[in-house]
Amino acid sequence: MQDEIFHAPPAFAAQAAVDADRRRLMEQAASARPEQFWLEQAGRIAWASPPTIASASDFTGDVAIRWFADGTLNASISCLDRHLATRPDQVALIWEGQDGQSERLTYAALHERVCRMANVLRTLGVGRGDRVAVHLPLVADSVVAMLACARVGAVHVVLFGGFSAEALADRLADSGAIVAITADEARRGAKRVPLKAMMDEALARTDAHAVRALLVLRVTGAEIVMQPGRDYALAPLLAQAAADCPAETMSAEDPLFVLYTSGSTGKPKGMVHATGGYMVWAAFTHDLVFDHRPDDVFWCTADVAWITGHSYVVYGPLANGGTILLFEGLPSHPAPGRWWQVIARHRVTTFYTAPTAIRALMREGDDVVARHDLSSLRLLGSVGEPISPDAWLWFHDVVGQGRCPVVDTWWQTETGGIMIAPLPASVPQKPGSATLPLPGVHSVLLTDKGAVIAGEGEGCLCMAQSWPGQARTIWGDHARFRQTYFSFAPGYYFSGDGARRDSDGYYWITGRVDDVINVSGHRIGSAEIEDAVATDHRFAECAAVGIAHDLKGQGLVVFAVPRDGTADGLAGHATQAIVRVVGRYAAPETIYLVPDLPKTRSGKIVRRLLRKIAGHELDGLGDLSTLADPSVVDRLVDAVARQG
Ligand code: PRX
Repeated sequence: MQDEIFHAPPAFAAQAAVDADRRRLMEQAASARPEQFWLEQAGRIAWASPPTIASASDFTGDVAIRWFADGTLNASISCLDRHLATRPDQVALIWEGQDGQSERLTYAALHERVCRMANVLRTLGVGRGDRVAVHLPLVADSVVAMLACARVGAVHVVLFGGFSAEALADRLADSGAIVAITADEARRGAKRVPLKAMMDEALARTDAHAVRALLVLRVTGAEIVMQPGRDYALAPLLAQAAADCPAETMSAEDPLFVLYTSGSTGKPKGMVHATGGYMVWAAFTHDLVFDHRPDDVFWCTADVAWITGHSYVVYGPLANGGTILLFEGLPSHPAPGRWWQVIARHRVTTFYTAPTAIRALMREGDDVVARHDLSSLRLLGSVGEPISPDAWLWFHDVVGQGRCPVVDTWWQTETGGIMIAPLPASVPQKPGSATLPLPGVHSVLLTDKGAVIAGEGEGCLCMAQSWPGQARTIWGDHARFRQTYFSFAPGYYFSGDGARRDSDGYYWITGRVDDVINVSGHRIGSAEIEDAVATDHRFAECAAVGIAHDLKGQGLVVFAVPRDGTADGLAGHATQAIVRVVGRYAAPETIYLVPDLPKTRSGKIVRRLLRKIAGHELDGLGDLSTLADPSVVDRLVDAVARQG
């Protein structure tokens, strides 16, 4: 089953821009004349002055990643202004609210909205290099805010609506944002998320932040408290602002945004993406992988607060002059089939989502899909976690009705855009495999010791050379950047993922090899969870692990050691600490209160054992002789069995 091969259906292949010959030529050009190849790709976006050099990157020593360094540009010009000449009346953005309301903005209208917002930011003194936090629901103004930051040369820091006040406070302080943009509330099914109140609490928590103005968008009209001198209602400012705003000309290496993501240790890190290389990568990958056509309606279901939303809701498709769809709601609210209704209503052609959503939709049954007219779809995509062959086949057969290629795209916040994925008409697909690296991507597998694996094999997924979309550093901590990604094997970027390569050179991602847990496509660091539980002094210590979960991909399980006894409700306190420090999205599946944790003689927690115990795989616990106290295991197994 796993090696079943799917070629693009003839009707799709006949219209696709990149066939097998063209792909081969691109690969040859990228390896034989990389400098020229990448400078040609840079021509996909608009430059104030085009670059004359492509890469000046070095993975060794201090690690320097630079692309198109002598070019100058403004990202919002590529996404807006240059389309005004050719497609001012084309719809750039379709928004559908969860309750069915909708809005369509042409390129001309989006340009004006962005200019007004940019002028509001300028009035508040925001300029080149300043950081602006964007904390909004999935409404058109989230896209507008990002592009407005880009327009004035500010660095956006988009913050997820599901973060707790404490998580927001940490990111505001770390990024040094001087202005934040929030909304009264976000709608989430029948629930409301009090964004403004969360932001108030975040700002009150610490003096370490630099936020001097908070712009507030009205979404639900809920009652909120405005703090005079700091808070401003956004609508009247937008109405007063001028409808045009000249764009700042930035250097290619000026940061476009900082986006926080979780690692295996420490606090989340602010990945820094540079304007020129990131934009080229977003445009290049969106065009090739999604076989972009001018009449496409492109729906990427990600929240703009994640990298997928940055690259494939906003920058990639808009740079390519596409029409994007933004849907505020959940897949099955108010009833199953809501997403299919959105596809039918707006004649979506390209649908890009995550395996966790595909699994949930699959559970609702095929008849829910069949009730909707999905004939507009021509291409399907998946991202964020490994997709099992059965979910892939369901997506292909039931949603795509066998008519649409499925592109399984592997990439990360750090890579800026897609790295390994089929070009739909030129790379036959195997369900469950992300297939081949894109032209110009130098993926390799290394052993634990850092030796290169040739041909078939399994190892750690690394990159041997830089690519334009690569993150440049961690905000404020270049040493951590170097240590995290370049110390595993000198001269290589280490992704943190494991992969297998088959005899056709196809990659099969096996998941993280570090302590990052992927719950429903959300990256969660075990250390973040453990630090959160540690804020509650009723716990002496704890360990967080991920175990296989039918719907979520991985489920979060926490083993917590109470300081004294196991009082009623103690597990609930651990969950509360996690929700308070990280956010509701990180609430664990299960908390086990245990007397002790398995450790090596040097005091390192043996997570491998915890994963097995949590997954009830007691037969294969393996060699326990490295434990400082092997009897811990029996006590742990007993405690877990008692708690079900
Ligand atoms: O483990 C890989 C998994 O998601 C991680 C990156 O998460 P994040 O930075 O939040 O970006 C998610 C969207 C790009 C990776 O290290 N991952 C992502 N795509 C895939 C995947 N695992 C398997 N297959 C994929 N297609």
